[in-house]
Amino acid sequence: MRIAVVGSGYVGLVAGACFADLGHDVILVDNDQQKLAALRNGQVPIHEKFLPELLSRHRAQRLTFSDDLKEAARLSSVIFVAVGTPPTESGEADLSYVESVAREISGGIDGYKVVVEKSTVPVYTSDWVRKIILRNGTDPELFDVASNPEFLREGTAVTDFLFPDRIVIGCDSDRSADVLREVYAPLTNGSYYKRSDAIPQPDRASIPPPIIVTSTKSAELIKHASNAFLAMKISFINAVASVCESVGADVNQVVHGVGTDSRIGPRFLNPGIGYGGSCFPKDVMAFRAVARECGYDFRLLDEVMRINEDQRQRFLRKVHSALWTLRGKNLGVLGLAFKGGTDDIRESPALFLVQALLQEGSKVTAYDPAAMERTQEVMSSGITFANSAYEAAHGADALLILTEWEEFANLDLNRLRQELKYPIVIDGRNLYDPEVMAAQGFTYYSIGRAAAHPDGLPAAVLKNGKKA
Ligand code: UGA
Repeated sequence: MRIAVVGSGYVGLVAGACFADLGHDVILVDNDQQKLAALRNGQVPIHEKFLPELLSRHRAQRLTFSDDLKEAARLSSVIFVAVGTPPTESGEADLSYVESVAREISGGIDGYKVVVEKSTVPVYTSDWVRKIILRNGTDPELFDVASNPEFLREGTAVTDFLFPDRIVIGCDSDRSADVLREVYAPLTNGSYYKRSDAIPQPDRASIPPPIIVTSTKSAELIKHASNAFLAMKISFINAVASVCESVGADVNQVVHGVGTDSRIGPRFLNPGIGYGGSCFPKDVMAFRAVARECGYDFRLLDEVMRINEDQRQRFLRKVHSALWTLRGKNLGVLGLAFKGGTDDIRESPALFLVQALLQEGSKVTAYDPAAMERTQEVMSSGITFANSAYEAAHGADALLILTEWEEFANLDLNRLRQELKYPIVIDGRNLYDPEVMAAQGFTYYSIGRAAAHPDGLPAAVLKNGKKA
């Protein structure tokens, strides 16, 4: 099939590359000339596993790049809209990019086409997209508007796209549903997974994935409700972690006991410094605004957001309780990205905390396997960048773990202790077992678990694991 994907951001770029891998001819449209030139030259603008392989496999063959939206729409039978929907001041999604794309697409509709929302949008967006296309003189028989929300996570975007839990297509006509079924047929009929050059299957894949056909409005709601629910799960466990701290219980044990109930499940119950990224913060806020506009006061979502913000403040208080004053202290920081496996720092709780620590007069030496370049672009003064976790720890008064990178969970603890001025680790992601840390000579603080001290002695008396 000939497919246009409008917007080469995270979702658009990954979807475009994956559609090409399914065998479709894809035109990726963007109005950013620099980005297009970079993509044509073989550059990969985001850090995402398997994306470089897919782009080099299909670039200039099944995957082409263009800034001519009208022409791309004319050449394609399905047009996926994956442009940004940033939050406005009041927390609503700004849909002006979606509107201008709809306006431009209408000029390219000269035969039946399906216009598909791929960006996360409020529930009434499909109606508006339809209205805008009609308003610009398009014959109503020549198009349908559908919704096909994307559930990919950064860091595992390509495998999430190709091995999804489910594919949701929201269509208000059989004709548009048939077109979207055909787009995803290589996944739903399993043929993609039999190919020798298919992207390797992740552990938890349910193949072939089910396709869920709903009304357009239901599909729009499925996306917002899914993200809001996952954010709620995280805030819920963070609130439970706070209770654990008050009573001396261990949140990891609680998660194990709660998460093994198959109705609840263990995933997205990792306590930490709160959720971040370009999706959850924006989508929870937007869903709250959508509900309000539709006449429902979704106050539960306010609480989800409040707990999330509070979680960062609680972590700061923990740093204070471990180190007392912060002015002039040298802090090693592991992690700047909003989560492990990505170079994305948008709404990163780690970055928020680094900024707060700098404001309090600490000296921060940070290491992140992928996000240091991006951090440098937004934060040039005050922070020093290290080449490794050990370099970040070197001579520090304490080490803070802020992002759940796998490599941070596998550090050589002996070496780490020798690098640090004081063997204090404040872990915002619960990557270590408190008992192991204490046995290794660390004073170890984490989330929802009691602080662990070697021999029950305060940190200042210990140097390199030995009593001073
Ligand atoms: C999220 C959703 O998981 C995707 O399904 C969705 O498609 C995407 O948003 C989107 O709307 O585009 P993503 O933002 O890439 O994906 O990242 P997640 O893996 O969901 O993590 C979000 C944040 O929650 C991170 O800051 C992470 O550290 C935090 N988190 C996640 C926790 O604190 N605890 C957990 O148990 C899980």
